[in-house]
Amino acid sequence: MTPGAWKRSRDLFWSPRKGWPEGPTLTIADERVLRLHPKLKRAIRGELITLKAGESAKSLRTLEKLTKRALTMPRKVTLIAVGGGTIGDLATVFAHVFKRGVKKLIHLPTTLLAAVDSSVGGKGAINVAGAKNVLGVFHAADECWLWPEVFTTLTEAQRREGRIEAVKMVITLDRKTWAEWVWGLPDDAQIIRVARALKNAVVDRDPYEQTGERAVLNFGHTFGHVIESLSGFRVRHGEAVGLGMLYAIDEGIRRGITPQNLRWELEGVLPVKRARLQQWLAPKYAARVKALLAADKKAAWILLESPGRVRVVPM
Ligand SMILES: NC(=O)c1ccc[n+]([C@@H]2O[C@H](COP(=O)([O-])OP(=O)(O)OC[C@H]3O[C@@H](n4cnc5c(N)ncnc54)[C@H](O)[C@@H]3O)[C@@H](O)[C@H]2O)c1
Repeated sequence: MTPGAWKRSRDLFWSPRKGWPEGPTLTIADERVLRLHPKLKRAIRGELITLKAGESAKSLRTLEKLTKRALTMPRKVTLIAVGGGTIGDLATVFAHVFKRGVKKLIHLPTTLLAAVDSSVGGKGAINVAGAKNVLGVFHAADECWLWPEVFTTLTEAQRREGRIEAVKMVITLDRKTWAEWVWGLPDDAQIIRVARALKNAVVDRDPYEQTGERAVLNFGHTFGHVIESLSGFRVRHGEAVGLGMLYAIDEGIRRGITPQNLRWELEGVLPVKRARLQQWLAPKYAARVKALLAADKKAAWILLESPGRVRVVPM
């Protein structure tokens, strides 16, 4: 099979006792995570490249740096990405292009967002000339290692980002689980399990974004991206998506597509405050909002008809 062709990754519970894979390995790791988790650092074998996480890591410069460091490594290397979504996205691109595709890609997600979302589905991308995710690949990971202890050093704000993405998947894809979650979110282990299963099921049906099914995963992202841009990326992606979901519910109600009660249900569950949405709806932003929506490459509203049922409406 072509390296990185779509298949679900094998999800395994990992702990430092389980060690590292045999054979040549290249680990790309978030330097902060290794500082916070010396046990993890000690378990790593083979070549190790540490990077500062964040959008700036998703760059051509970092790709070049990785290439120079890995130059003498064989193509049949196992690449392990240890970090959140930025390290994972970068490593996925590198796995795809390094000597035309490495032997094996393993994700060890260290943020809740990476565990529920970015380490599932095979997408990787870097940012160029200020444009987010403009160079990217589809390259499915072979394995995903889940180590619960790594999440203990996340802040509450970082956890919220993962929970928001998980809420997005459940409200758009799974009516039955939504009926449970409206009473309160389960623990993080269950959130990860449910979200990964739901996202995998969507990607199974549309792995390379050809049928439009994957569009459901963009619920809340249309206005969420507007908020990220308006705030100069000070509002983090997860919170922006949460606010974007509230906006999408309002838009759906305005158009008579979304029932009113979903607004109360979502507000009760989402760990974001509606007041934070209001500020981005101020008249002073109206012209920029219009321009940003017009420039959005995905240019459609993903609206909820009911839990588990969405409608894609052109803007
Ligand atoms: N490929 C996909 O399908 C997909 C999906 C969603 C998001 N994304 C991408 O994911 C990125 C955002 O991911 P993210 O929020 O994980 O960002 P990130 O990787 O930048 O991590 C956020 C912060 O958390 C820190 N951190 C990581 N693990 C930690 C830990 N265990 N304890 C303490 N701090 C820790 C990092 O050092 C960083 O400062 C964006 O670039 C987004 O585009 C990709």
